[in-house]
Amino acid sequence: MPTTTYSTKTIQKIREPAYYGVKTEKNHKRAKSVPWVDVSDDDEKSKRNSLKRKNSIVNGNADHSRNGQNGHKNKKRRSSIQNGDTPQSKDLANSPGSSQSKRGHINGSGPSTPHTAKFKAVQEQRKQLPIAKGREALIEEINKNNVTILLGETGSGKTTQVPQYILESGLARNGMIAVTQPRKVAATSLAQRVAVEQNVSLGDLVGYAVRFDEKSSAQTRIKYLTDGMIVRELMSDPLLSNYSVIIVDEAHERTLRTDLLIANLKKIQAKRNPKTDPKGKGNADTSNPLKIVIMSATLDAEKFSKFYHNAKILYVKGRQHPVKIYHSAESQLDYTDAAMRTFFQIHTDQPPGDVLIFLPGQEDIESLQKSIELYAKQLPSDKSEVLTCTMFAAQEHSQNNKAFSPTPPNTRKCILATNIAETSITIPGIKYVIDTGKCKEKQYLARISGGGFDTLLTRDITKSSAMQRAGRAGREGTGACFRLYTEDAFNTMAVSGEPEILRCSLTSSILNLKCLGQNLEELDLMDKPDLDSMADLKPVASALKTLWLLGAIDNHQKLTPSGRQMALFPLEPQYACAVVASKEYGCTSEVLDIVSVLSASSKLFIDISEQRDAVTEARRKFRHPSGDHLTVLNAVKAYRDIAASENKHSRREWCRKHFLNERTFLEARDIREQLVVTCGRIGIDVSVSAKENEDLVIRSMGHGLAGNSAFLQADGTYKQTMGQTIVKVHPGSSLCDKKVPAIIYDDLMYTNQIYARGVSSIPKSFFLSLDAFKQRKA
Ligand SMILES: Nc1ncnc2c1ncn2[C@@H]1O[C@H](COP(=O)(O)OP(=O)(O)OP(=O)(O)O)[C@@H](O)[C@H]1O
Ligand SMILES: [Mg+2]
Repeated sequence: MPTTTYSTKTIQKIREPAYYGVKTEKNHKRAKSVPWVDVSDDDEKSKRNSLKRKNSIVNGNADHSRNGQNGHKNKKRRSSIQNGDTPQSKDLANSPGSSQSKRGHINGSGPSTPHTAKFKAVQEQRKQLPIAKGREALIEEINKNNVTILLGETGSGKTTQVPQYILESGLARNGMIAVTQPRKVAATSLAQRVAVEQNVSLGDLVGYAVRFDEKSSAQTRIKYLTDGMIVRELMSDPLLSNYSVIIVDEAHERTLRTDLLIANLKKIQAKRNPKTDPKGKGNADTSNPLKIVIMSATLDAEKFSKFYHNAKILYVKGRQHPVKIYHSAESQLDYTDAAMRTFFQIHTDQPPGDVLIFLPGQEDIESLQKSIELYAKQLPSDKSEVLTCTMFAAQEHSQNNKAFSPTPPNTRKCILATNIAETSITIPGIKYVIDTGKCKEKQYLARISGGGFDTLLTRDITKSSAMQRAGRAGREGTGACFRLYTEDAFNTMAVSGEPEILRCSLTSSILNLKCLGQNLEELDLMDKPDLDSMADLKPVASALKTLWLLGAIDNHQKLTPSGRQMALFPLEPQYACAVVASKEYGCTSEVLDIVSVLSASSKLFIDISEQRDAVTEARRKFRHPSGDHLTVLNAVKAYRDIAASENKHSRREWCRKHFLNERTFLEARDIREQLVVTCGRIGIDVSVSAKENEDLVIRSMGHGLAGNSAFLQADGTYKQTMGQTIVKVHPGSSLCDKKVPAIIYDDLMYTNQIYARGVSSIPKSFFLSLDAFKQRKA
């Protein structure tokens, strides 16, 4: 436990002005290299900005008068908006009444009645958003153009308001409006907020869809979904014909799925909208045209515009609340320690308001959480309480959502998050952001031989991320962002990151594209991954090799029937392959148990390094001699028995005693239910069980993990079967002290060594039975 002297001294030190070179956002905005923060009302500055001259600002009067293409000069054309429910005829303040007709389905329990104080306050808040002034012009532009690029500062109201404006204006006709988000937590929390603004129950007029969780109905007109979900929808509806408008939000993040979506949307428009048919043959189906809106706060708008045949770029001027930015005067070597000191500085010096700390990953989050909780206990009794919450991708969804709960009285909430909280979301109560300037990024280490893997590397964030992070502080009022890096360091940051498509595994995406009859190589992408499939270490070649090993594609790279089945599962192709293979082996029940746990967002086995002996002892009873997959199965079976006979409290206690994460069991149960539905669709009987014959389960898993396999060498190390890499069994694995002739593993972790995690022993002879291995040998 740290002494008071240390904490007081340090806090006093960082309280001195020299620690933070106070730079307000206004000063910061003047840096020419950061055009995307230039949203001041300084007209001269606007004139200097060439992007702005070429395009339209939809909510700034000065620019309306300058640009004849938008705003009030085109009132006549607005009447062409379909449904006759024109935006200019509608006052936003009256929207409760006007949208009431669309909510005949409202049930009495969820939303408040339109006249409650809360509802009025929310509507008043909507009216104050910067985007509200540009509503008419915005709708008019979206109506005129098939593709609109919308750039607006963070907090201006893009994500929550634009879909509602489109709905209320009738632009979506009878179709749905999709709003894509790179992250689950954003999709669900935004849907929740917009449901409140529309005064409906979540899942009615406003819904969401994320992997393994959906709240929507036949009434849903605005649907927030992850980019991954909409790419999956392409498989059942290649023209996305249920949607009239697709809003690709946070497009600057350039996730793999967003890039695939953007490419497919271009194709879809060519079919659904006559004017964008490049051949002009007029063969497009005109009855259901599609509108696309690309949105972000920090977008390379011109690049997107060029991609979509010089689409119109619109700007939303201004943010709702100012955020004061502080850079540290010196570089901080230990960012977790600096974050902690800054937190306590805020806690002791600053007015009430919750704090959001951005850290690179789970380990840093957990260690800082412990330290903050420890120090908080030593605070004088006149200080308010500290409540910590965590948010990271590997944490269960409902746990992440706790950050959105109201802060109890006389308490300051401190949320420790990775970049999953960086874009899009509003966490009520947040007034202060502490930005360590670090994040973890997926990087694919490709192997032409098929054994490539994604790994997470810690690196400096980009300017675009820094801006988004700061933006989280100004959502409900003025805020402050403390950057734990110097202004010089900020100035040397890259403007934006490398698109994910250039740096992550393409296996799952290529499989999905194959189902659509598309080859990644032929797709019109904004940035193409390295396509030289003959060269070594190329992600496309590596992904094709993996799919071939799984039997998802044949020697001519054509999708096989089992490949088509694998693509139906919302799983990594490796696990989908194991499920498909389990039919033949007669062990589907067990394989579903295992892959459901492996696909959950958090790990089942809780590892506490200080209690490693106790953990090993408690888990001994589940431990299976063949390794981790059957150990997971044993734990699932044991939990199922407990759940059948014990109450909630006893179940929880049992999990705690065995260092098992009960939330993982519960999430896995839901995932399993969804997998059962998919199995039903393709005729796999989920009740078939291997019973005592557990070898069959390992063989099924082996089909999926054949590319993740290694043979024992004479010197006692394991060498990949599909590559030259030497891998070690992770110390957390039940096989870590054993030497077996051959192993399969779930993934590789790259530290100073390459560790295999989720390891099982498999007979070497198994590989001889695999077609891919036979062919490879031949
Ligand atoms: N859950 C919420 N609770 C309270 N206020 C909210 C909530 N969600 C949004 N708001 C308010 O609406 C404003 C606009 O939010 P919105 O998400 O539409 O902005 P945005 O322009 O999309 O920002 P970003 O670029 O950061 O995604 C917020 O600044 C906040 O004032
Ligand atoms: Mg947004």
